[in-house]
Amino acid sequence: MKKIMVTGGAGFIGSNFVHYVVKYHPEVHVTVLDKLTYAGNKGNLAGLPEDRVQLVVGDIADAELVERLVKDTDAVVHYAAESHNDNSLKDPFPFVQTNIIGTYTLIEACRKHDVRYHHVSTDEVYGDLPLREDLPGHGEGPGEKFTAETPYNPSSPYSATKAGSDLLVRAWVRSFGLKATISNCSNNYGSYQHIEKFIPRQITNILSNIRPKLYGEGKNVRDWIHTNDHSSAVWTILTKGRIGETYLIGADGEENNKEVLELILELMGQPKEAYDHVADRAGHDLRYAIDSTKLREELGWTPEFTNFKAGLADTIQWYTENKAWWLAEKEAVEANYAKNNQ
Ligand code: NAD
Ligand code: DAU
Repeated sequence: MKKIMVTGGAGFIGSNFVHYVVKYHPEVHVTVLDKLTYAGNKGNLAGLPEDRVQLVVGDIADAELVERLVKDTDAVVHYAAESHNDNSLKDPFPFVQTNIIGTYTLIEACRKHDVRYHHVSTDEVYGDLPLREDLPGHGEGPGEKFTAETPYNPSSPYSATKAGSDLLVRAWVRSFGLKATISNCSNNYGSYQHIEKFIPRQITNILSNIRPKLYGEGKNVRDWIHTNDHSSAVWTILTKGRIGETYLIGADGEENNKEVLELILELMGQPKEAYDHVADRAGHDLRYAIDSTKLREELGWTPEFTNFKAGLADTIQWYTENKAWWLAEKEAVEANYAKNNQ
């Protein structure tokens, strides 16, 4: 594999993957296809060598552009998406357009030119799970975490469009022989994450003297993984995964939102109770939890960055030292949340 195309490579997770490939796989050239929406930022690729990484600004739903790029590449790794649940509740259309039509456009081009395709998806396609305390096996019994066999049951417009895109890929594998793999990962955290998302929103609130905002009671559980571990997992699946298979990516990082917020407050030297409870998210998924046994046992992947407190401390340091990266957007992001009392 000498030439790969990374869609959404100027976003949070896509840019981390581009940095990962440049660092560990010097033989590979990367073309980034990114529309540079509000979530994309050229600066996320700053410092990367121009002879290794080319940024093409464009839309994954632009069939002519996509075909021109795809026919000249060995593999496509598809990250581009509208990615934020709260936005999808306010205006679902861009989610349908990018996540469904965009994915369709990419897989049609890959099918036509017989190009290897990896589809980056989310654990949210499986819906949610009961809290551990309400389960007979306390979250460790059969069926108490998501596996590749868990039935799809998405809750939000965002997760429904991601589920739809996964199903398109599965159909293209079966009906057209598309050389595809799919990964469904849990919640990522790390540097360069947009400040609309939970962890960076709270860090940048504290840095801006705004009280952090917790939806509802904060009992909802997310299974946190450092984005560096997501990147190594995607590379492993791209290079070693079996065609047609789905691999779940997770690092056993379950925490409820209240615990995460209290840890951020502690690490930033604030009182534990210095936050506000705000309106809950409509249809708010209760708990996500990934069983990544298949990926670990079949492909030999293991996560490295599993000390959540240390990873969070590094993330806080990054947002503290990189105010120029987020400050200009902070006011608008908060004004948007305030419209929904969040
Ligand atoms: P992000 O919102 O930070 O970045 C998305 C990127 O896609 C941006 O650079 C944006 O400009 C680009 N983009 C959007 N629409 C486009 C279009 N029509 N054409 C070309 N580019 C377009 O998202 P993220 O959090 O980095 O997520 C990346 C992928 O990983 C998504 O597919 C998401 O569903 C998946 N994922 C995210 C998480 C998470 O915790 N954030 C977890 C699992 C899976
Ligand atoms: O599980 C993977 C998914 O994780 C990805 O597919 C999505 O792209 C990504 O955005 C993320 O979705 P979530 O909805 O879980 O992430 P978010 O950061 O929006 O919220 C995390 C939790 O924190 C969730 O339970 C809602 C809550 N929350 C969020 C915000 C923004 C708050 O309590 N307060 C907030 O201000």
